[in-house]
Amino acid sequence: MDWGMKNRLAQIIKSDGKCFFMPVDHGYFLGPTSRLEKPGETIKSIVRYSDALFVTRGVLRSCIDPDNSLPIILRVSGGSSVIGKDLANESITTSIEEAIRLNVSAVGLSVFIGTEYEHQTLMNLANLVNECEKYGIPVMAVTAVGKELEKRDARYLSLCCRIAAELGARVVKTYWCENFDKVTNGCPVPIVIAGGPKCDTELQVFDFVYDGMQKGAIGVNLGRNVWQHPHPVAMAKALRSVIHQKAAPKEALEIFNEEKNKAKK
Ligand code: 5RP
Repeated sequence: MDWGMKNRLAQIIKSDGKCFFMPVDHGYFLGPTSRLEKPGETIKSIVRYSDALFVTRGVLRSCIDPDNSLPIILRVSGGSSVIGKDLANESITTSIEEAIRLNVSAVGLSVFIGTEYEHQTLMNLANLVNECEKYGIPVMAVTAVGKELEKRDARYLSLCCRIAAELGARVVKTYWCENFDKVTNGCPVPIVIAGGPKCDTELQVFDFVYDGMQKGAIGVNLGRNVWQHPHPVAMAKALRSVIHQKAAPKEALEIFNEEKNKAKK
């Protein structure tokens, strides 16, 4: 691996081999979703607990301070919306020159395996890898399921992650599921866990993140369960302890409660 690729990966994956990515890219298909109306405001208090931000170029330019920013993973796929015909109908939205101009540490795009747009989105990935490898920019593949959340099982996700890795993704982002080791064991590149819609309790979030990390994930790319929570700082701090200090779910819950009570005083 060349120096540039190694250096960019080291910017987003910390020296302990773990990472906490903060995604605020949801607007690219959801519009101003709840608590992400003003992304710059949303991340202000939680950014210090994250290792990298996952954003589109629009939000990056308009809401993120270039003088004081975390490493950036640039969302470079899109072209469909939650009210449109099919969320899977994505193309690459951003040129390699733009990614270089924005000095990003990595780029990310979605693949929709098993859909009508499987071939199109996998070729998006392959073409992006072809361009990005020339310049030492890591590609993170996002195994997306659109509105079909029931697809998130080990059989389907292990297929998706393996295919993304085979096509050259340096990191794969996927959902946590039961028997998550089946997913990590079949994927030769690091896996980060996506959050998904907001869970009912904090412990549920800490449980699945902890389980996923025990079973081989290197970290998370988790947004709504942090910034849609009434106590985002407490959530971010507790999750950071699971990811970087190997805190068990109950310890993370203590950290969460401590921080929540501090904020009340
Ligand atoms: C959606 C994404 C998000 O980055 C991903 O879903 C993680 O966010 P959340 O934890 O809110 O699901 O790829 O565009």
